[in-house]
Amino acid sequence: MNVEDLKIPEHVAIIMDGNGRWAKKRHMPRTYGHAQGAKVLEQTLEDADSLGIKYLTVYAFSTENWARPLEEVQVIMNLFRDYLISAVEKCNRNNVRCRVIGERSKLDPDIIDAINNLEEKTKNNTGITFIVAINYGSRDEITRGVKKLAEKVKEGSLSPEEIDGELISGSLDTADFPDPDLLIRTSGEERLSNFLMWQLAYTEFYFTEVPWPDFNKNELLKAIEKYSGRDRRYGNVK
Ligand code: FPP
Repeated sequence: MNVEDLKIPEHVAIIMDGNGRWAKKRHMPRTYGHAQGAKVLEQTLEDADSLGIKYLTVYAFSTENWARPLEEVQVIMNLFRDYLISAVEKCNRNNVRCRVIGERSKLDPDIIDAINNLEEKTKNNTGITFIVAINYGSRDEITRGVKKLAEKVKEGSLSPEEIDGELISGSLDTADFPDPDLLIRTSGEERLSNFLMWQLAYTEFYFTEVPWPDFNKNELLKAIEKYSGRDRRYGNVK
């Protein structure tokens, strides 16, 4: 299929799985796989932008990932630190708007500052929106959203009858973004692992055996080619 014939999804979400197994296969520490994964992510953002994708959301660290060995968590946090700081200049050079979703208060204060700075300094960019999920879990996000709505009911500015799907979507970290059109999960696992469960209601799923550190533009094109052939009916008939 020619690239011109592809139906380009507006929003692609990725579960970047397989870094640890990829490194182990090479007799290297798991953290080597994460470092490689971070490089692949930067290239994927460029590829997504060049293909005309408008939103790219990636699952970088889940609310469950804190259970990993401390050293691994520290290495991943250091990758975020490096990325968040260097991304300001890179995103501005490439017109990328960067946003972070997830619960921030558990992160180190300097990481929180770096996130706020990156979001602020790139907020007027009009190219692709790059959304990084850090300390993100769908159940946690929905719980926080429901609490916000419950507070409004309690203070009298919202009645329970007014609560609908749109209001719930608007209470989530992803309130400013459209729902993903395509979800990609690498490395052979076929589950959601607490990622964007509300937002993926009508999303097309694509699973590949390729581990995240081996992902590249050709793999992205394969996923989009599959997506292009899908018939999205949203529960309706055609
Ligand atoms: C899943 O592989 C990957 C992660 C939990 C970490 C993802 C982080 C990055 C790609 C790098 C940093 C990101 C940014 C934004 C700079 P796994 O460790 O679960 O792999 P396994 O299933 O083979 O063990």
